[in-house]
Amino acid sequence: METMLNNVVDSLKWRYATKKFDCKRKIDDATWNQIEEALILTPSSFGLQPWKFIVITDQSVKDQLPPLSWNQNQPADCSHYVVLCRLENMTVDHVKAFVEHTAKTRSIPVDSLAAYGKMMTDFISAKSEAELNDWMARQCYIALGNLMTAASMYGVDNCPMEGIDQAAYDKLLRLPEKGCRSLMSCALGYRAADDKYANAAKVRFAKADTLIHI
Ligand SMILES: Cc1cc2nc3c(=O)[nH]c(=O)nc-3n(C[C@H](O)[C@H](O)[C@H](O)COP(=O)(O)O)c2cc1C
Repeated sequence: METMLNNVVDSLKWRYATKKFDCKRKIDDATWNQIEEALILTPSSFGLQPWKFIVITDQSVKDQLPPLSWNQNQPADCSHYVVLCRLENMTVDHVKAFVEHTAKTRSIPVDSLAAYGKMMTDFISAKSEAELNDWMARQCYIALGNLMTAASMYGVDNCPMEGIDQAAYDKLLRLPEKGCRSLMSCALGYRAADDKYANAAKVRFAKADTLIHI
C-alpha cells in the first residue's frame, strides 16, 4: 500500500488535476480498497446516500471513454476511473430501505425511527423531480471531494471531470438499467513523469479574500 502523505494540507498541496496519467502504473488492491472505503463513508443529507459509484478498470471500456469526455485521455490512461452517479429517482422506497438498514445496523426497532422516516418522506415528497435530482447531485459533489482528498492522502493522483457527455456515458455503461445517471467522474492513478501540469503553481485566492471570520 502507498504510504500516506504527512497530513491533509500537504496532500492537498501535492495533488493537482492530473492531465496525463502513467498508463502503466496501477493502484494496488489494498490502497484501492481503502479509497473505496473512504468514498462510501462520505456523509450525505439525512444519510440517504442517493448515489452509485461506477468503478471502471476494464481497459476495453476505458478506451471508449475519451471521445465521450471532450477528448480528454484521463479515462483511458488512469488506473481506476470512477463515474459518480445520482440515483435515477429518489423514492419513498429508498427512504424505507434506508430506515430499515439503520434499524438493523443499530439493533433498534424500525418503529423507533418512524418520525425520522416521516421527516425524510415529507422532505422528498415536497420536492419536484428536478429539485430532487439537483439535490442528489449536490450530495454527489461531496463524494467527489471526499474521494479526491482520500486518494491524495494515499499518494494517488486524481482528476475530477465534469467534461463528460452524461447521456453518452449513461448509454454506454447502461446506467438507467442500474438505476442511476452519471453526473461527473474522477480519474485516479499516478501522474506521468512528463505531465507539465504537475509543477504548475497552485492558483487559489488568498485566505483574506476567501475567508470571512466573524
Ligand atoms: C467539478 C470539477 C470538474 C472538473 N472537470 C475537469 C475536466 O473535465 N477536465 C480537467 O482536466 N479538469 C477538470 N477539473 C479540474 C479543475 O480545472 C481544477 O481542479 C482546478 O483548476 C484547480 O486546479 P487543481 O485541481 O490542480 O488544484 C474539474 C474540477 C472540478 C472540481
